[in-house]
Amino acid sequence: MKKLITLVVLAATLLTVTAVMAEEKEMNHAAKLAEMDGKAIFKNLCKSCHSEDSEAGEYTPMTLIMEQWDEFFQDTFAEAHKEAACPSDETKMITDVLTKDALKKVQKFCVDHAADSEQPMTCG
Ligand code: HEC
Repeated sequence: MKKLITLVVLAATLLTVTAVMAEEKEMNHAAKLAEMDGKAIFKNLCKSCHSEDSEAGEYTPMTLIMEQWDEFFQDTFAEAHKEAACPSDETKMITDVLTKDALKKVQKFCVDHAADSEQPMTCG
């Protein structure tokens, strides 16, 4: 009986620790995104699927003009990426990982460096 209780206690502890660790990982992810600027987010998240020779097509800020980026973030992003897993955590979808705030920052970076902007940029 005593053995059983010990086992149950052990199992419960293990579960709690795992849950806490998962929660921390989640928070780290969000905290990291909150610290990154638009360029860093583009480099870390978008580029892994959209560099030269990528199957999904090469996209850098200067691939599109400002208006096209605004339209993309407003209308197309969620639909085009509903099956795209996050490059740094494949158990999650990119659309779930990117917070509203993070999306806004990437949008601003893309618009600020679009083909018809004052500082067109390829992002490395
Ligand atoms: C896991 C891979 C992946 C990541 C990460 C990713 N994309 Fe994509 N993206 C795709 C795929 C796949 C398509 C093509 C979808 C289709 O064919 O409809 C696409 C399509 C696009 C398109 C074209 C949309 C259209 O139909 O006009 C743009 C622009 C784009 N992505 C920009 C981005 C930006 C900006 C980010 C970062 C915030 C990003 N992508 C992150 C995989 C990814």
